[in-house]
Amino acid sequence: MKNLSLVFLLIILSISQYQAKLKIVAEIYRHGARGTLSSYYDGDSQPEIAGELTATGQRQHYNLGQFLREEYVNRINFMPEQYNHSLIYVRADDFNRTIMSAQSHFQGFYPQGFGAQLPANLSYNYTLPPFRSPNINLNASQSLGINALPDQIQVLPVHVISTSTDFIFLAQDICPNYGKYSSDYQKEKAQVKNFVNSQMSQTLQQLTQIFNQTISSVDDAYSLTDVIYCDTNNGRYVPPIPSDVEANLTFIYNFFSFYEGQNEVKVATQPYFEEVFGYFDQIIAGNSSLKWISHSGHDTNIGPILLALNFSSIECQLNQFYNQGQQFLNCADGPHFASHILFEVHESSENVKNDKSQLYVRVRYNGQYMNLCGRNSTECSYLEFENNIKSQFEDYTLLCGKQMNSFYNPSILSQSIDIEEEEQYYQLNTFQILIPALVQIFSVLILFYAFKKIKLQQKEIKVLREKLLDTGTFEYQQQLD
Ligand SMILES: *[C@@H]1O[C@H](CO)[C@@H](O)[C@H](O)[C@H]1NC(C)=O
Ligand SMILES: *[C@@H]1O[C@H](CO)[C@@H](O)[C@H](O)[C@H]1NC(C)=O
Ligand SMILES: *[C@@H]1O[C@H](CO)[C@@H](O)[C@H](O)[C@H]1NC(C)=O
Ligand SMILES: *[C@@H]1O[C@H](CO)[C@@H](O)[C@H](O)[C@H]1NC(C)=O
Ligand SMILES: *[C@@H]1O[C@H](CO)[C@@H](O)[C@H](O)[C@H]1NC(C)=O
Ligand SMILES: *[C@@H]1O[C@H](CO)[C@@H](O)[C@H](O)[C@H]1NC(C)=O
Ligand SMILES: *[C@@H]1O[C@H](CO)[C@@H](O)[C@H](O)[C@H]1NC(C)=O
Ligand SMILES: *[C@@H]1O[C@H](CO)[C@@H](O)[C@H](O)[C@H]1NC(C)=O
Ligand SMILES: *[C@@H]1O[C@H](CO)[C@@H](O)[C@H](O)[C@H]1NC(C)=O
Ligand SMILES: *[C@@H]1O[C@H](CO)[C@@H](O)[C@H](O)[C@H]1NC(C)=O
Repeated sequence: MKNLSLVFLLIILSISQYQAKLKIVAEIYRHGARGTLSSYYDGDSQPEIAGELTATGQRQHYNLGQFLREEYVNRINFMPEQYNHSLIYVRADDFNRTIMSAQSHFQGFYPQGFGAQLPANLSYNYTLPPFRSPNINLNASQSLGINALPDQIQVLPVHVISTSTDFIFLAQDICPNYGKYSSDYQKEKAQVKNFVNSQMSQTLQQLTQIFNQTISSVDDAYSLTDVIYCDTNNGRYVPPIPSDVEANLTFIYNFFSFYEGQNEVKVATQPYFEEVFGYFDQIIAGNSSLKWISHSGHDTNIGPILLALNFSSIECQLNQFYNQGQQFLNCADGPHFASHILFEVHESSENVKNDKSQLYVRVRYNGQYMNLCGRNSTECSYLEFENNIKSQFEDYTLLCGKQMNSFYNPSILSQSIDIEEEEQYYQLNTFQILIPALVQIFSVLILFYAFKKIKLQQKEIKVLREKLLDTGTFEYQQQLD
């Protein structure tokens, strides 16, 4: 009874689906909107915000943090409602815009009303610095009530190290070999770029006219996109661009976001992957209580990681733009401001502590679950996923041309050994359980019905066939088989 066992398998699958448990999240994102760093169009006339996170950029990360809270705090109770230093680690590189992005991100994740509060019986005297002055107002402190900070907001530590040794975010700037890999790739892909340049000659002419400035190559156009995206995000005037020119410009942006060779990608991503898998190892071994690892970086981090994960490529961008009809498992857009990659490590069932073979991974880019491990599936076993990435690792000192410092921070990991795991399975509400369950029951019933129906039909066919054989109409038999 093959069909019956299939039905059973379906039932078992539908039950086990609700026992899966999210164990770890690691996210890495690009900072929000900033002042432009390109000199095209009006890029030179905004030095006061050049490279700095703008108000828009702060809001973008606040909203992204809110989205994550909705999904990972409110919906599945993966993280608690309030900040807990044992569970979360936030890292940025030493740029104002990435540090401020991380802070804005976590204002959304831990919004007002969920911050720390004073002990109820504390004398407000203790809330003042250790000296008295007419300019220190006890009344003002009292007026805050028991909220540590106004509106009960929460602040978080954002860790940074010196840019000169920060391989995780800035390896391209640190590694002496990187320039060579870049020029090798440029040579290798010269033809492709020439093709794109020739295809875009009309677009370049139009941009030259619109911006009253020579845009002579797609490289120029790519630099121009930085000003256009910054200005539009920051409420600055940009001359109107016809939609067909804009579509071509979007393609140019996507093309250059992924215009990087394997060695460039490896230099850029290996330190990040080594760190993240290092954390995963510690957490899976039960040596760390961390659940949420957060990295605040740049497009130059997101682009190469998307490439390393096979989420995008210039080939898929060309294919998509020219409707060549080739099938790609993923074809992500370039990393606009506040773009976001999020890794989820799940336990596939209960009681699988410290067992890597029972884990699986899902990865989201800008909210969407991507196909993993070369298959048309958004789930991949942890071991296979880990192997796909680690098999690309090289001797980093040789690859980079310089020894990597130990960026790793073991004190973070040893801070809370021996934490007992709370068995906090997804706490879905009644509807979240009931509706899928009903759907599953219906599908099983329909399958059963179909199964019966097929049996019935097979019987009818058999009868028919016997009749036909009786009358000697032999061809029918072949058709029926
Ligand atoms: C923070 O998380 C740790 C590890 O799970 C837990 O032991 C601790 O009780 C939590 N602290 C608070 C205040 O909930
Ligand atoms: C960041 O802010 C500091 C002042 O806090 C300023 O001196 C510096 O130029 C800013 N830019 C960067 C890239 O850090
Ligand atoms: C404040 O209240 C807590 C709980 O009721 C009590 O344990 C603590 O001793 C009190 N502190 C002071 C300074 O009275
Ligand atoms: C708080 O400080 C004021 C001024 O220094 C003092 O008069 C008062 O006794 C203090 N109250 C408490 C509860 O310590
Ligand atoms: C603090 O409040 C008290 C009574 O509420 C008032 O008499 C005093 O002037 C206030 N002090 C300041 C510095 O505002
Ligand atoms: C956009 O690109 C296509 C393909 O390269 C080209 O044929 C078309 O003329 C371009 N459109 C504009 C408005 O520049
Ligand atoms: C275009 O730029 C030139 C100088 O670069 C300037 O003289 C001219 O006024 C500009 N034209 C428009 C329409 O802005
Ligand atoms: C976890 O901690 C134990 C004891 O300190 C250590 O022996 C083990 O190697 C650690 N596991 C990992 C994956 O580092
Ligand atoms: C992946 O599967 C979906 C249906 O499940 C299908 O529509 C899509 O074309 C497949 N993609 C590839 C690249 O095979
Ligand atoms: C991406 O594709 C390459 C080549 O097919 C493969 O070697 C690599 O393991 C893939 N990476 C991931 C993360 O699946």
